Amino acid sequence: MSDDDFLRVTDVSKWYGDEKVLDEVSFEMDRGDVTVLIGPSGSGKSTMLRCVNRLAEAQEGSILLDGEEVLSPDLDVDELRREVGMVFQGFNLFAHLTAVGNAALGPRRVLGLSESEARERAEAQLERVGLSDQFDSYPAELSGGQQQRVGIARALAMEPKLMLFDEPTSALDPELIGEVLEVMHGLVEEGMTMLVVTHEMSFAREVADEIVFLDDGHVIERGPPEQLFDHPEEERTGRFLERITSHD
Ligand SMILES: Nc1ncnc2c1ncn2[C@@H]1O[C@H](COP(=O)(O)OP(=O)(O)OP(=O)(O)O)[C@@H](O)[C@H]1O
Ligand SMILES: [Mg+2]
Repeated sequence: MSDDDFLRVTDVSKWYGDEKVLDEVSFEMDRGDVTVLIGPSGSGKSTMLRCVNRLAEAQEGSILLDGEEVLSPDLDVDELRREVGMVFQGFNLFAHLTAVGNAALGPRRVLGLSESEARERAEAQLERVGLSDQFDSYPAELSGGQQQRVGIARALAMEPKLMLFDEPTSALDPELIGEVLEVMHGLVEEGMTMLVVTHEMSFAREVADEIVFLDDGHVIERGPPEQLFDHPEEERTGRFLERITSHD
């Protein structure tokens, strides 16, 4: 751990009622790092992501983002959410807005850009995700893979310094997963800092600087992909990986 970690999560705990769903979770990221959270259903992966942008409130611990305490009661949550983009499993696009309309909404409403500036920015991000021919399409006219790429463009249009991805491909038909992973690959190459929940283990192996394995709210083990995937130290990690890769 160094003083200039870009994201430093320290002993974060969270309860829902009596249930402790995160138990002293710690990990760190440098700027430009890709960290992949893996673990069984219910292990706390989504909750951990949501604590980083304060969609969920951690009750204990510390989350320092670029030196600022995310968990501070004084934090400007709107500003935090401008700086931290999130991509969801279910796209969450507005059905009555076109691709450009969806991607321009944040820049227009939240950043206060003019309509033409917001549109320009939205178009640039849609181009970045390979959708320059779909600016004026509505979500219902797009495939799942295209919709998810609009979701990514919408997050990028805010020019975030950290991107959170919560199983961005798990709602997609298998043949559409690749185009979304390709866009994510591109972001990695551009140096985006990304915290990703995914079951796409070959993607994780290729892009992750660190894999964090969560089970039952605990970090069981973390390390570079080669170490975690090929030589897991904990039995639980090995069992989880066996289970998940046997489905591939
Ligand atoms: N809003 C909520 N209210 C109450 N309990 C919740 C809430 N959200 C999550 N939980 C509980 O917290 C635990 C962790 O859930 P979480 O969604 O973070 O797991 P996950 O690892 O993302 O699982 P999955 O792989 O199924 O998405 C689970 O026991 C879940 O039931
Ligand atoms: Mg989840």
